Amino acid sequence: MNDMTTPSKALSDAEERTANEAAYRELLASLHVARHAAWLGGPQATRDKHIQRGRLLVRERIAILLDPGSPFLEIGELAGEGLYEGVAPGAGIVTGVGLVQGRACMVIANDPTVKGGTYFGMTCKKHVRAQRFARQHRLPCITLVDSGGAFLPDQANIFPDEGLFGSIFHHQVGMSSEGIAQIAVVLGACTAGGAYIPALCDEIVIVRAKGFMFLAGTQLVQAATGERVDPEQLGGADMHSSVSGVTDHIADDDGQAIAIARRLVGELPAMPPCLRDRVPVVAPSRPPTDIYGIVNRDTRKPTPMRELLKCLLDAGDLGEFKAEFGDTLITGFARIGGWQVGVLASNGVLFTESAAKATHFIDLCCKRNVPLLFLSDVAGFMVGREAEQGGISKAGAKFITAMSSARVPKFTIITGGAYGAGYLAMCGRAFQPNAMFMWPNARAAIMGPDQAATTLALVKRQNLKAGETWTADEEDAFKAPIRQHYETFAAARNFARQLWVDGILDPAETRETLTLLLDIASRVPTPETHFGVFRM
Ligand code: COA
Repeated sequence: MNDMTTPSKALSDAEERTANEAAYRELLASLHVARHAAWLGGPQATRDKHIQRGRLLVRERIAILLDPGSPFLEIGELAGEGLYEGVAPGAGIVTGVGLVQGRACMVIANDPTVKGGTYFGMTCKKHVRAQRFARQHRLPCITLVDSGGAFLPDQANIFPDEGLFGSIFHHQVGMSSEGIAQIAVVLGACTAGGAYIPALCDEIVIVRAKGFMFLAGTQLVQAATGERVDPEQLGGADMHSSVSGVTDHIADDDGQAIAIARRLVGELPAMPPCLRDRVPVVAPSRPPTDIYGIVNRDTRKPTPMRELLKCLLDAGDLGEFKAEFGDTLITGFARIGGWQVGVLASNGVLFTESAAKATHFIDLCCKRNVPLLFLSDVAGFMVGREAEQGGISKAGAKFITAMSSARVPKFTIITGGAYGAGYLAMCGRAFQPNAMFMWPNARAAIMGPDQAATTLALVKRQNLKAGETWTADEEDAFKAPIRQHYETFAAARNFARQLWVDGILDPAETRETLTLLLDIASRVPTPETHFGVFRM
């Protein structure tokens, strides 16, 4: 414990790094616990029951669907963490990009061990997010369906609004009309919405005696119409394959069904070629794991971005643009995994000059069709008289106009604290980056916890009636819960839970993730950018 009366001895650089790394490894350990829980899915007893029924677990299904050694980039891995009692992170569905027959596909797989694979509000949002990613990158979708449809108690978050269950169908139809292939494998009892999802796919594979599709199960049918019918007649594989014609291929078990799905992917038109050049990969000049020691364990202290870049970019090389101007934002061309990117990396508070530089640089990248990579660690835009008189609001508006209008692929990684309009300008979620991740140490909010507590305390103090007192202790007691609320809100885990980002990346995974994303994005033609009006 620190003795508060004597100043603590300053640590050497090496000691600082060791202390930072120890703190970072704790964050990673906590992340890995959550990932493991997501990977397991439902409770042990439910998984045992599922296996005894002769069926594969969702992760086993995905493993045999993907090519041996394929990467699997999960989208929304920790979505829903802690939101539903007794439900593992992931919200009962696994979504991600992997290779099938050598081509990148979006895999969307219900986990039937989590409340019968039913859809919570977050499950709907995650399914829709995976579809939007697939649609933007024209990836075939393979849906491993095993779902009881809506989780009925959560209907307010499933049924009425855009972005929920109905949007799954809307995207399916939209993708189909755009020629994006969708293959469904019906592996369990798929009821109501769970039946429409495969029905809206191009081709359906169903497993005999295990896969069922019906708009209502046998009990509901009896209650609604009085008709007594067994599940096989109502929606079994043989009935649908030979009588209704709803399904197209029949299999004897999960493994065979997934093998058929792989064959169907192989029959699709060839994967589009890369439309951008790629040079041989060069390792960064510093190992990515050095990032653990570089990120300051005290979130109020800045992390040196230039050091991070050495761990992230091929050869650690950045062809810097306007290095001597607007240095609170670093801009320049670099390669990651051999792919060219235009880097915009935070290096402090955004000033008029840094915003103008960002605008110029984004324009260059759009003209040259170079994807943008935002590395966000920004307290916001500069405030105050000098900044206002220097036109910070119009410079910020230009930056936002350029970033928002740019139609080149955009990727955002929050590496530190991203706050307020700075979070937005560095391609926040509202601007629909192709993908957006946070590091475990990262935070994002309208403002920092101290600033929020101080602002609200100032407002309260201004509104005190004449003669009313407010002691320093009372002010501290007022501020403490606000600070706590902001800290909890801003945490990367909260952003991942709410699906406000696509997930949390270990910094050491960042390069390979971006390499995969850049490859996928390079196979889609880039629409022409038409910038909005720039306020001069
Ligand atoms: N809404 C809410 N909870 C549901 C549910 C639904 N639609 N369907 C299943 N569950 C819950 C069950 O209550 C059970 O919860 P528990 O683990 O807390 O006990 C859990 O999901 C697993 O259900 P269970 O029936 O034990 O598993 P199963 O593997 O034998 O069967 C289904 C799974 C989905 C086939 C079966 O539960 C079913 O037919 N559900 C009804 C589906 C339906 O009618 N949906 C209409 C939606 S509009």
